[in-house]
Amino acid sequence: MSGLDEIADIGRDPRRGGYSRHLWDAADLELRDWFVARAESTGLDVERDRNGNLWAWWGAPGPDAVVVGSHLDSVPGGGEYDGPLGVVSALDAVALLRSSGFVPSRPCAVVVFAEEEGSRFGVACLGSRLLTGALDAARARRLVDADGVTLAEAADAHGVPARHLGADERALGRIGIFLELHVEQGRGLVDVDGPLAVASGILAHGRWRIGFRGEGNHAGATRMADRRDPMVAAARGVVAARDAAAARPGARATVGRIGVVPGGTNVIPSAVTTWLDARSGDDEETRALVAEIEERMRDVAAAEGCELVIAEESWSSAVTFPADLRERVSAALGGIPELGTGAGHDAGVLSAHVPTAMVFVRNPSGVSHAPEEYAELDDCIAGVVAVERILRELL
Ligand code: GLV
Ligand code: MN
Ligand code: MN
Ligand code: MN
Repeated sequence: MSGLDEIADIGRDPRRGGYSRHLWDAADLELRDWFVARAESTGLDVERDRNGNLWAWWGAPGPDAVVVGSHLDSVPGGGEYDGPLGVVSALDAVALLRSSGFVPSRPCAVVVFAEEEGSRFGVACLGSRLLTGALDAARARRLVDADGVTLAEAADAHGVPARHLGADERALGRIGIFLELHVEQGRGLVDVDGPLAVASGILAHGRWRIGFRGEGNHAGATRMADRRDPMVAAARGVVAARDAAAARPGARATVGRIGVVPGGTNVIPSAVTTWLDARSGDDEETRALVAEIEERMRDVAAAEGCELVIAEESWSSAVTFPADLRERVSAALGGIPELGTGAGHDAGVLSAHVPTAMVFVRNPSGVSHAPEEYAELDDCIAGVVAVERILRELL
């Protein structure tokens, strides 16, 4: 697990706590350099694909490969394990196999997917969505970050030609099986008192950008009755979203990001943008939840004299990982529990195209997407040994 120590100071965020590592920022570039060096010192050959994902090959790249990996980017102020644990474990497992003299009978690669969290350009699993064609390349090129930089501009500036972004049949066609190890993002393994689980599936989830438009005006000179205040509408909208999800078993709705124009203490805003994250057990239920939230938000917007504009930023259908691979993974580890998850992963995107499995490592805090995210060293080591055993079985 020394890889985690090697990157422990990269992208620390003293203001938010934890880590902020976003696509092609200084931290992300340093992490990519670290990955290349670490993979090469393990004897792997690194290549970057047309979407900025990194692949470290054991032997010649080829078809029907077993690919194992995760991501290195984080949410703003995220934890140490979400993403990097999967990458470090994959590299360590391959190193263990190689040093034991094991000879694989099919190609193997460790992958790092770009911008899994969607923290810079808004779309989660950006690298794997582009790779699989789940995200249209023309739309991707137009995505903008908080500073107004387009993905096309950022990609060009980092040696990933924007004109080549998009579905990569060559890279996708080489994946025979995809495996992702990830820190658990809840307390499921604490409850069953075990270090590892195999993932059963992922909730349906998506992101919506919801704008409330009103009338910018003076905070002191404008009578309360004369206002069209989008902040009040947005606040009522956020509560409505919470209430709608709370009334549906297993559903979740979160507004974790908000933008205010112009953003002055003595200014009634002219516009407020909220980003809604909604999830639940199946696609239809999630669509129904979002439709209900939209309707309630329209009502509160109208009551405040504001307009509502809603745009879908990304969508992921519910995932059930294939039962035969789940059983194979569990059997290779002598039988481990199964757990579902409400967190999205590149494994979820890939599972629509190739047999995919995930292994979770216990998180005693149960907290994720926050600095308190944690995993014990012994459990992390159990994760590496698990990946090594699974690779032995699959390779
Ligand atoms: C990614 O971690 C997500 O579930 O949003
Ligand atoms: Mn995450
Ligand atoms: Mn993750
Ligand atoms: Mn004034």
